[in-house]
Amino acid sequence: MSDATRTPPLGVPAARITQRIAAVDPPAATAKAQTTSLPVPPSSPSGATISIAPGASRPPSNPHQQSVRPTGSFLRFPQQGSLLVSPRGAYLVHATLGTGEFGAVYEGVGPFDQVYALKMMRPANRPYAEVQAEWAKEVQRLLSVRHPNVVYIYDAFEHNSLFYLALERCDHALKAMLGQPLQDGLTIELARQLLAAVQFLHDNDIVHDDLHPGNVLITHLDRPIVKISDFGISQELRGLPAIRPNVVHHAIMAPEILTTGFTTKQSDLYQVGLLMYWMLVGEPAIPPGMAYADLCRWVAEGEPRRRAEAIGTPLGDLIARMLRRREQFRYTTAREVWSDLRELPGWKARELFPPK
Ligand SMILES: Nc1ncnc2c1ncn2[C@@H]1O[C@H](COP(=O)(O)OP(=O)(O)OP(=O)(O)O)[C@@H](O)[C@H]1O
Ligand SMILES: [Mg+2]
Repeated sequence: MSDATRTPPLGVPAARITQRIAAVDPPAATAKAQTTSLPVPPSSPSGATISIAPGASRPPSNPHQQSVRPTGSFLRFPQQGSLLVSPRGAYLVHATLGTGEFGAVYEGVGPFDQVYALKMMRPANRPYAEVQAEWAKEVQRLLSVRHPNVVYIYDAFEHNSLFYLALERCDHALKAMLGQPLQDGLTIELARQLLAAVQFLHDNDIVHDDLHPGNVLITHLDRPIVKISDFGISQELRGLPAIRPNVVHHAIMAPEILTTGFTTKQSDLYQVGLLMYWMLVGEPAIPPGMAYADLCRWVAEGEPRRRAEAIGTPLGDLIARMLRRREQFRYTTAREVWSDLRELPGWKARELFPPK
């Protein structure tokens, strides 16, 4: 069966899942679907569709080139100089900071002349209510996970039928630091902060499920500060041991996606392991651009773990344990990973980031 003909999990439209994702076989049981409790703004034209202009099957990478049509009238995505109006004040849009599959992020100056990252949810030819629900879910999630290593949300609003989040503006994503090996001490310091955030999420019964280098942001103070972002596909376990992700990012696919279709807290630890490997080696343990069948074989046969073992250092061995194929043979918690990491020579002998 081709990816395009598979039934996407949890009722996600096929067009969406095939953009970035490989669907998985139906599981034996279905996790409870998420709902949001945020109220619908009274201005919402419920039932209206926000759609891309005729002829476009998905958004272009430059969102400025695109118009959307909610109810017969054309709306443009924000451009430099646009004013976005929230009940809390107006935001003046500056440059585009980045674009992803489901969002475009702009720098903007807000009501108190503070700089923010304004994330717009891409309509991507989806019904108005679906975009609104995705936005509301992310808002609610970000409001519920206040932590120094989770990106801070200041405001959330609708402007001209497009949905925005006003976020803490970070300096760059982790992906900007990848491409050459980082020092052991820096890798471990970034991993330490990532693990602290992941432990906090897990203590709150949330699986992030999308820990890729575009979703790990960095702010530079006297030392780099990690901020996890993008809770678009994260889910609450609600007492279940595992959840079924709506979408799966190939570059960070955990083996259990292939065997069961479900992810657990250990899947987040696998993704942190992939990020640590990428930082340490300078290239990913899952090579980009692989054909889907090869990628599945690569992950299912444990190639990422073998690569980590081949580093041949205690840090490589620790990463290899995080990349084990079977969840029960990985670390149980992020806290447990850190208690091993902090004993490594790369951390004990570090010159960077001395304890304060
Ligand atoms: N709060 C922020 N501060 C600074 N830059 C940000 C912020 N949020 C996002 N960005 C930048 O915008 C880019 C796009 O973010 P977005 O979440 O839309 O896409 P992505 O993370 O690259 O991919 P994906 O859609 O798979 O999450 C990020 O990679 C990052 O470079
Ligand atoms: Mg993102």
